Amino acid sequence: MKPMKAFWLIPWVIPLLVLIAPAAGLAAKRAKAIVTCQPAEARLEYECRILLTGRKSGQPITGAKILVKADMPSMAMAHNVRPVHAVPVSTPGMYKMRIKLEMFGEWTLRLKISGPMRDLVIAKYNFGTHHDAKGQDGKTLFVTKGCDHCHGNEGRGLANIKNTPFPRLAGQNPTYLVNQLKALKSGARKGAMSAIMQPPALTLSAAEMKKLADYLSKVK
Ligand code: HEC
Repeated sequence: MKPMKAFWLIPWVIPLLVLIAPAAGLAAKRAKAIVTCQPAEARLEYECRILLTGRKSGQPITGAKILVKADMPSMAMAHNVRPVHAVPVSTPGMYKMRIKLEMFGEWTLRLKISGPMRDLVIAKYNFGTHHDAKGQDGKTLFVTKGCDHCHGNEGRGLANIKNTPFPRLAGQNPTYLVNQLKALKSGARKGAMSAIMQPPALTLSAAEMKKLADYLSKVK
């Protein structure tokens, strides 16, 4: 495994995906967004990826313009984070952006989407919160680390997204799962969607990978 950069070792840099919720209805065609962020070199700066799909079709949405605004629900008016545009990367439906926050904690990201469709998608994201995962079993870790948002309840996969890029993990061989997590963490695995899986993998210790893999392999 490649040595990790020093900033990964600082506990406050571990973000967790919290929840993706749709906003109030705008147009008939709706979007679903999955956001993952990892800390950039500068403190309070995050490099984020957004996977945009049609809510009904499950197909990636390309050619969209995304303007991202961030505010803190706990202090609605107190913050003034400059809105940023997310730009497309080579994977269809995937966009990236870099955001600079004012403090750690739970932020609401408002994704204003225009182009092939218009929608407003709201994502809640907990930046920099270090969940003390010590003593948690695999089943609990799977939820507290936010894995279920992309891999479905108990790792059974997301049936509502067509040609889902999120693999089913339930019932997989535990050694295979640990090896994939290690390769995703180090960047050695270079699949089409590996970039979106690297941030969660970076938060996992070897012991946590083993616990998660043992748990997932036993899900029937
Ligand atoms: C934001 C969405 C997202 C989150 C959150 C997420 N994953 Fe993933 N995961 C993916 C995607 C996408 C892939 C496919 C990666 C590729 O194409 O290489 C993947 C792949 C994997 C694989 C490899 C599976 C295989 O069949 O090769 C494992 C294991 C895995 N994830 C475990 C986890 C665990 C454990 C967590 C929680 C710590 C987690 N994932 C959180 C999106 C996510």
